[in-house]
Amino acid sequence: MKNLTWPHRAFAEREPLYEPKAFYLPERFSHHVDWGVLDWCRLFSKENPIALELCSGNGEWIVEKAKGDSTVNWLAVEKKYTRVNRTWRRIYREKVENVAVVQGDARILIRHYIPKESISNIFVNFPDPWPKGRHAKHRLMQSPFLKDLGAVGCKGALLTCITDDLTYACQMKEQVLCSGVWHICPLDAKFDLQDYGSSYFGRLWQSKGRTLYPLHCEKRG
Ligand SMILES: C[S@@+](CC[C@H](N)C(=O)[O-])C[C@H]1O[C@@H](n2cnc3c(N)ncnc32)[C@H](O)[C@@H]1O
Repeated sequence: MKNLTWPHRAFAEREPLYEPKAFYLPERFSHHVDWGVLDWCRLFSKENPIALELCSGNGEWIVEKAKGDSTVNWLAVEKKYTRVNRTWRRIYREKVENVAVVQGDARILIRHYIPKESISNIFVNFPDPWPKGRHAKHRLMQSPFLKDLGAVGCKGALLTCITDDLTYACQMKEQVLCSGVWHICPLDAKFDLQDYGSSYFGRLWQSKGRTLYPLHCEKRG
């Protein structure tokens, strides 16, 4: 099976571009503000509500979700090319029509390329925890980003994050409250980790007996 080739490897400044079932967002492109927003028709064949998985790794979790719910278009967002390529190959291998993948930084994508109020559901599974205190500034789930996520969420949009890192879990809660855009939903019996889906890091941490901390939020009205 062929690979998704990376057109920006040697030309980091080139423009974002569409490929079948993929979108490339070069990090060092300097005109994100002017480029415009994604055209969903170029990524998905049917018009459906859109769900995002940020930091999607190898794409296992999102491809399973998409197979289980064809009434939603699923967009995976991952910055590492090798993982994007694995996701893209998985999409074709498993013949799943309703998934596409973005290679790029979720922060840039959300701020500049996702149409406002267009997303119904956002998932972030095991974002990098940056466990050392001096690296904590690199954590993704911080108030400015949570505000940007709120701006792309439609009315009643849901946000679910899961981590095995207690410090990050506590910080996420604080940051969600501080963003003022989301309210935290109590985790009732409806949130079942077994049913939630399986990802590489989810399985890894569960096999090591680590506690997982899910956080489920709804966009404020
Ligand atoms: C710990 S892995 C989790 C992968 C997957 N969700 C799983 O559960 O197996 C975190 C992933 O987030 C990606 N990542 C980190 N920061 C990112 C960002 N700003 N934008 C997109 N992806 C990011 C990393 O490249 C890595 O693949």
